[in-house]
Amino acid sequence: MTRAQEWFPHQYVPWSQGYDFEGPLGGTAWEEGQSALSPTIRSALVLNVLTEDNLPSYHWAVSDRIGRTGAWGEWLARWTAEEDRHSTALRAYLHTSRAVDPVALERMRIAQMSTGYTPRHVGMLVNLVYLAVQELATRVSHRNAGRYSGDSRCERLLSRIAQDENLHMIFYRDLLQAAMQMDADAVLQAVSECVRDFQMPAERMAGFRPLALDVALAGVYDLRVHHDEVLVPLLRSLAVWDVRELNPAGEQARDELAGTLHRIEARARAFENVKERWSAGRASGPGGITDKVSAAL
Ligand SMILES: [Fe+2]
Ligand SMILES: [Fe+2]
Repeated sequence: MTRAQEWFPHQYVPWSQGYDFEGPLGGTAWEEGQSALSPTIRSALVLNVLTEDNLPSYHWAVSDRIGRTGAWGEWLARWTAEEDRHSTALRAYLHTSRAVDPVALERMRIAQMSTGYTPRHVGMLVNLVYLAVQELATRVSHRNAGRYSGDSRCERLLSRIAQDENLHMIFYRDLLQAAMQMDADAVLQAVSECVRDFQMPAERMAGFRPLALDVALAGVYDLRVHHDEVLVPLLRSLAVWDVRELNPAGEQARDELAGTLHRIEARARAFENVKERWSAGRASGPGGITDKVSAAL
């Protein structure tokens, strides 16, 4: 909490750009040409804001799996308050800049929150690992979406949000580092379980796959980013490859983890190959790029 710097979402929204929409105020309906953002960046922003929208379910998931009393309860409440401003600020930006269809976005929000989110894992440690991975993944995803948007206001807002995600990641990572000192075998098993079948929080959202495909094509988040910028640095900071004197279960978990990373790396390479061919205009034919890249994802 002492490291967090106060900031105000309303200061990052380009209000002067906004004007009334159709409906009760009789303004102008949304049209695609009102924003210069690329289709893939729009998909990235939609996926990012819808992911943030599901916060009530995340709050429930973390309190259900880990608890909500004492120091942890204090953290959970503050974390929730910080996360809440991400969807608020991002949606205000999307509305004022007319970057995406606000009617479609609202329908997707209702669908997404109606689906909710249920964590795949049961134990406390494995959920801490998930949170650490997810915060770092979200940090990278926000930062890249802003960076590649070509809009300085979008980039400023998203890099500010990414700073929140960074501190969240550091908090969970520090907890895991402390856990490594207490029981490295248990942490290794939790890490191996989480990394093996990691999915982004929005995986069950209707229309997730085509959006995720756009996000990957935009270079905002794909398996290469997941492997190189999320998993590898996080595992290094936990020193999972250096720890000695693991018990047989810990050793087995670490071996499995190495195998999982190897497979992710191979799939990342396969995706890059397809994307390269697509960029060169050679991936046409039945099914087109969507099927080909989707298969490689
Ligand atoms: Fe967030
Ligand atoms: Fe976060």
